[in-house]
Amino acid sequence: MPRQDRIPATPFYRLGGHATFQAITDRFYDLMESEPEFAELRAMHAADLGPMRESLPLFLAGWAGGPRDWFEANPGRCIMSVHKPFEMNKAVAAQWADAMTCAIADVDPQPPELASAMSGILADLARGMSSD
Ligand code: HEM
Repeated sequence: MPRQDRIPATPFYRLGGHATFQAITDRFYDLMESEPEFAELRAMHAADLGPMRESLPLFLAGWAGGPRDWFEANPGRCIMSVHKPFEMNKAVAAQWADAMTCAIADVDPQPPELASAMSGILADLARGMSSD
C-alpha cells in the first residue's frame, strides 16, 4: 500500500481499497449462492466458490487501478481468456450484471457517484461478453 500522502486517485483507492472490493465480491457470491434468479450462473461455477472469493477482488483491484497482484500471478491471462471454456450466453451475462449491480448497491461504497459509475461499467462489460 502506498504511503497515505501518495495514494493514487484511482477508483480502487477512492472506493476504499481491498476491504471494499472484498465486500463487493463476497456479497456477489452470497447472492449467487442464495438467489434462484442466479441459479444458471451459479451452476457454471465450481462447487467451491472459495477460490473465486479470493481471486475476483484481486482481479478487480488491478482492473480498477490498484495493486496488480492478480495480473502478475497470471501472466498473459485476461478477461477473455479466463472465460474461454464457458458458454457466455445473454441469460448468464445478464445474471452476472444483475448480481454485481445488487452487490455494489448493497455494499454502498463511497463516493456514490463513483460506485455507480463502476457498477454501470461492470454490468456493460458483462453484457458485452455474451456470445449470442
Ligand atoms: C458474462 C458474464 C460472466 C460469466 C457468465 C462469468 C463466469 C465465470 C465463470 C464460470 C468462471 C469460473 C469460475 C470457477 O472456476 O468457479 C469465471 C472466472 C472468472 N471471472 Fe467471470 N464471468 C462473467 C463476467 C466476468 C466479469 C465482467 C469479470 C470481471 C470484470 C469476471 C472476472 C472473472 C475472473 C477474474 C475469473 C477467473 C479468476 C481466476 O481464475 O483467478 N467475470 N467467470
